[in-house]
Amino acid sequence: MTYSANIERLKPSATIAVSTLAKKLKEEGRDVLNLSAGEPDFDTPAFIADAGVKGIRGGQTRYTPPPGIPALRKAIAARLTERAGRPMDWTGVVVSAGAKQALFNAAFCLFGPGDEVLVAAPYWTTYPDLVMIARAEPVVVFGKQSDDFKLTVADLEAAATKRTRGLIINSPSNPSGAVYSLEELTAIAAWCKARKVWLISDEIYRSINHDQGGAPAAGLLDIPEANLGDFVLVDGPSKSFAMTGWRVGFSWCVTELAKKFADLQSQITSNTSAPAQAASLEAYTNVKAADASVAEMEVAFRRRRDLVVKRMKELLPSVPFVYPHGAFYLYFRVDQLFGGDITNATAWCSKLLQAEGVAFVPGGAFGDDNWVRMSYAASDETIEEALRRMARFVKGS
Ligand SMILES: Cc1ncc(COP(=O)(O)O)c(C=O)c1O
Repeated sequence: MTYSANIERLKPSATIAVSTLAKKLKEEGRDVLNLSAGEPDFDTPAFIADAGVKGIRGGQTRYTPPPGIPALRKAIAARLTERAGRPMDWTGVVVSAGAKQALFNAAFCLFGPGDEVLVAAPYWTTYPDLVMIARAEPVVVFGKQSDDFKLTVADLEAAATKRTRGLIINSPSNPSGAVYSLEELTAIAAWCKARKVWLISDEIYRSINHDQGGAPAAGLLDIPEANLGDFVLVDGPSKSFAMTGWRVGFSWCVTELAKKFADLQSQITSNTSAPAQAASLEAYTNVKAADASVAEMEVAFRRRRDLVVKRMKELLPSVPFVYPHGAFYLYFRVDQLFGGDITNATAWCSKLLQAEGVAFVPGGAFGDDNWVRMSYAASDETIEEALRRMARFVKGS
């Protein structure tokens, strides 16, 4: 069968492939600890879920405008305005089926054949594919391991060409847990502005920041406006409010571009689900309850971060890792453990899954198959047991 060139380089999301295999083994009766998924293990806070149910019961079950219900777009804009300290026009907000669709809109509307898009690596697995679906070229750029792989202007300068049209950056990072400081982010934004490069900032983990007493990580709206050129800010409730299954995300950009995103959505998915928008409206308007539940989850993630770091040092002192400052992942290096038929992290993860029933994601999904990502969005017992099994596996291999 022949397919369109549109999907020539399309492959299934690598993180989904691993968690699917782990689920299958579990269904077959294996004792599997699945630490491969990229989602909080908490339930959606009750006050948000109730608003979704109320939405359904109250008839919010029909089409909405493609960029979302105005009340939700206004509520999101109000929170962005609060953050930025300057008015953020609600017509710049487009509500999508998850942050993933918001990122797709940006890549598809801004880039095309002949364009190069810099992708900060290790990257969230989907970025290069979104760029390729737009038939543009992803250019993967790694920072230094000693600096948690964070990019500097020198890294960007070395990777940029005349065809560079965009940069996709993610802080706090999935998979590394690295968090850019405001100064680092400002320097990057200023470089993008000077180079006339679109800056796409994925801030979906912004509220899961383990430093600064749990205050949100620096984002584009904290940057002095003079240093900010063309940008698309992507965020959403999936991670901060444990709402991955509701499929809500949003972008903010200038209204002219936001209209293009809305037009694109109107032709492919229309709006994201109306009840999910009703639930999200509660998350963005009931500020007090929302902030309390975000803080509660962040404290739990921070405690688990401390646990995972402590136990890694005790049980697996020979395994280097990036100290996670945000999100809920531990990114560790395994090439020193290769041997025999294990020549990459994909093989290493697959052996570990078969031998010990522990599912992690091989770093090939993030641009370097010498590394592995473990999610610590799990109970203390699961984290402890997974690390004990991994230590046994490492000793035995
Ligand atoms: C960095 C990053 N961006 C975006 C997403 C997608 O978010 P959503 O579920 O809102 O589409 C994820 C999900 O894993 C992610 O890790």
